[in-house]
Amino acid sequence: MTERRLRLATASARGTRALGARLGRLLAPGDVVALVGDLGAGKTQLVRGACAGAGVPEAEVSSPSFAIVATYRGRIPVHHADLYRIADEDELYGTGFGDLVGGDGALLVEWADRIPSALPDERLTIELSHDARRPDVRHVEFVGKGERAGALVEKIGRRGRGRGRGRPRSPRSEARTKAKLGPRTRSERERRSRRRHDHDPVGVRSGSRKR
Ligand SMILES: Nc1ncnc2c1ncn2[C@@H]1O[C@H](COP(=O)(O)OP(=O)(O)OP(=O)(O)O)[C@@H](O)[C@H]1O
Ligand SMILES: [Mg+2]
Repeated sequence: MTERRLRLATASARGTRALGARLGRLLAPGDVVALVGDLGAGKTQLVRGACAGAGVPEAEVSSPSFAIVATYRGRIPVHHADLYRIADEDELYGTGFGDLVGGDGALLVEWADRIPSALPDERLTIELSHDARRPDVRHVEFVGKGERAGALVEKIGRRGRGRGRGRPRSPRSEARTKAKLGPRTRSERERRSRRRHDHDPVGVRSGSRKR
């Protein structure tokens, strides 16, 4: 089975949501996305972004820890599940979760590794992890198994290599660029680099490989 991997990092919750939005714009019915990572790793932030990218109002999205599955209506139906509290396979299948796999919408599953048999092998897995030193940095690894998930990873990576393109800018900074001048002061330079970091989910580190 083809497998494509992509490693990115984000520097803020907003950066993780932006990365999620990039995925959300690509989602199609039948897509299965497994989100894996510790408590607070950013799974829900990424799902929020993905929902926004799929046309779901962001306010509707939270960790569906109690409901197990929530369905949102966007450009396509988006099913958001959280298996944190699921004890075993039997309990999961009692929720009707099985009908959502390969169904009418995209399926995004937090804590997917809790029940390894819950999802098909052909899926996009996103592993989020904390950075050991920087509290707001998250490492995000995409693993796409099968043709469709591999293509998703490839498209996400393609977008990621254009640094800061399409970003709204202030008229002053536009004017500065036109005049081919850099930021005037050190603090302005720092402010800018922070801003870039925040909007650019690949600002910290990235790499991609295909096996
Ligand atoms: N780079 C980052 N990406 C995502 N979240 C970040 C980042 N930096 C800080 N945060 C914070 O970390 C927290 C992530 O919470 P989130 O609910 O998304 O985690 P989760 O993986 O869904 O956890 P849980 O397993 O409890 O559902 C939020 O409070 C968010 O503001
Ligand atoms: Mg969560």
